[in-house]
This record gives sequence, structure tokens and C-alpha cells, in this order.
Amino acid sequence: MPPDHRQETHAVHAGRRIDPATGAVTPNLTMSTTFERAADGTLPHGLNYTRLDNPSRRALEQAFAALEGGTEAMAFASGQAATTAILQSLAPGARALFPDDLYHGTRALVKTSFARWGLVAEFIDFSDLVIVTTALNQPAQLVWLETPSNPLLKITDLTAVCRLARAAGALVVADNTWASPLLTQPLALGAHVAMHSTTKYLGGHSDVLGGALVFGADAPTAAVERVREWQKLGGAVPAPFDCWLLLRSLATLPVRIRAQSANAAVIAAWLDTHPKVEHVYYPGLPTHPGHEISRRQMQGGGAMISFEVAGGFAAARTVAAHVRLITRATSLGGVESLIEHRKPAEPPDSTTPDGLLRFSTGLEHVDDLIADLGQALG
Ligand SMILES: Cc1ncc(COP(=O)(O)O)c(C=O)c1O
Repeated sequence: MPPDHRQETHAVHAGRRIDPATGAVTPNLTMSTTFERAADGTLPHGLNYTRLDNPSRRALEQAFAALEGGTEAMAFASGQAATTAILQSLAPGARALFPDDLYHGTRALVKTSFARWGLVAEFIDFSDLVIVTTALNQPAQLVWLETPSNPLLKITDLTAVCRLARAAGALVVADNTWASPLLTQPLALGAHVAMHSTTKYLGGHSDVLGGALVFGADAPTAAVERVREWQKLGGAVPAPFDCWLLLRSLATLPVRIRAQSANAAVIAAWLDTHPKVEHVYYPGLPTHPGHEISRRQMQGGGAMISFEVAGGFAAARTVAAHVRLITRATSLGGVESLIEHRKPAEPPDSTTPDGLLRFSTGLEHVDDLIADLGQALG
């Protein structure tokens, strides 16, 4: 696949080819865990054992790399498995910076398992470049970014922060789950690695768990090799069928994410004028503090919205209790709209406001979504 093709073309064609044996247009699913050796003991097809490599996984990794504009990608069994592989690739005692607002599972991993591993983690506000500069006056081995952040949709200036982080000698990883490669391309803006929970927009149908790491051309070779070692030896790899399902979903990613974002932009503007809504967190709104930066690095405001209702915890619970069309559930990025009252869904150290509802905009008609939110808000 020529690298100069546009993302829509990569989404449909990367990692796919017509099967020379049968002419099958859609990719074959290779369930085999093991591959035959030749009489002399060699591996004629370059394949040995599915934990190490598998044609369905290889195809998916090629598609991930093409979509993010990277040179190499690795697929994992979940987003958390991908994050774990990065953290395991660091030497014990490494210093790492994380956003103060980030997916609570990443924070939990860092504060539990990787605290025991000796990781020295600091949580800072990456939307404030003075704070970032001060924190990076000392060397750091890892800078982990998440933009927009989960759940407060804080925006990090990727170009500025990646420059500072590189100067401090850090490997820069951007969790691009909430934007998707269609809206933001962190590698082109200076990150070494783009990370995804592919469970979300890349999968897009709430039916397959997965994770991905995509490495840019200048990612340090030693770091890439260490992560690859954890993927193969640690073995948190996706099953071939999950890879096949994901590759199938990628073809529609560009149209899904654009339509979902268009719905979200309308809903965010409507929520912003609703008398019972105290605050809307959506980078597509001109009042969002990260709006100008998001216009430079993100195509639109994305499909995730958080909003706070007047009346705090109890009021948020009441709104969530009254949706009819929208589903009350965790997760995001699927074709169906989901709403979640976040505070009770997060661990006790959560700093998320009590009255915050997180909304993952789906592909339903926007008027139906607004009607449902309207009746739930009362
Ligand atoms: C931003 C972000 N990163 C990582 C993850 C973890 O992904 P997974 O649930 O696939 O392990 C999530 C899950 O919600 C997420 O929202």
C-alpha cells in the first residue's frame, strides 16, 4: 500500500489483499495456533506460533500502522495490555509523567502494580506549559499523554509538550483512544508512540476488546524491541478472530467517527444552552479552554462529551436513570450512544466532579438523541 494514500483508503485496504489461492476478497481468518515446519526444520512461511505472529494479527498491525502514519504496530488483547507493555519496557525506578486527568484504569495500573515495579510516577496538568516545563527540568524516561483526556476532555498541546518531553529524554506515548487517528495523528505532532484502546472507536461496535501501539519512524529502536519482547513473551495478544473483527471494523472508521463527531457537536451546543446543565466539557465549543489548540491538532471536537448537571451527584444519577433510547453503560466509541454517571464508576481516589455525566455519541439520528436527553433532564 503506497504510504501517500489517504486515511479513508488505508482504512479499506491496508493489511488486506486478494487471497492468491482462492481470489477471496475479504481477508481469511487464520485460527491456527501453530505452523508446519519443512523437513529441514525451517519455517517456509515465516510463521511459527500464534503468540509470536499470526497472519490475521499481522494484517491488523499493518492497518494500524498505516492509519496512524507509523512504521510498526503491535496489537494487544486490550488497551490495558498495550499500556502494560509500555510500562514493562521501562527499567524499574524510571521516572514517568502522567496527566492529572486520565483514564482511571491507567492511573490504577501506575499506582498499584507499577508502584511495586518501582515506577516513579507524577501526575501533572499537561494543559499548563509552565507546569510541564518545570516537571521536565529533570530527566524523565516516559511522558504519557491523553488528549482529549478521560473524562474531563482536557486538551494537551501535543507539538509543544512533545518537544519539551523529547528534550528531557523521554519516550512520548499519546493515548489517542478518544480522538482516533482520523481526528488526531500524534506521531506527526511529535509523539514516539500512539496508543489505543481499540475496544472503542477502532472496533466501533462494542463487541471486541483490544489494544494497539503504533511506533513512529524515530521511536528509539531499543524501546520498540523491548515492547515487542513483552508482546511476544508476555503473550497478552488478541485472538485471531478479534483481529479479523477489528480489521473489518476499520474500513468504516472514517465515516463512523465523522458522523459521530457531527452528532456530538450539535448535542454539545444544545447542552450548553440547557438551563439544567452547569458545564459542558467539549473541545469543539469555542468556550472550551483548549479549543484553539484542538483546532490545530484535531479535526473537530470528537464524539465524547462530558457535562455537569445542577444538583450534583443525585441529579446526575436521576438524569442517567431516565434515559430511554440512550443506554446506561460504561465504555465508548460504539455505534450506540452510551451515558455514564462517572463518579460511582471510578475508584475512591477519583477527582471527577460528582455531577458529571459522560456521553459517548453514537450514530442514531441527532434529533432522537436530543429528545431523549431533553426528557431525561426534565
Ligand atoms: C482513554 C482510554 N485508554 C485506555 C483504556 C483501556 O482500554 P481497555 O478497556 O481496552 O483495556 C480506556 C478504556 O476505557 C480508555 O478510555
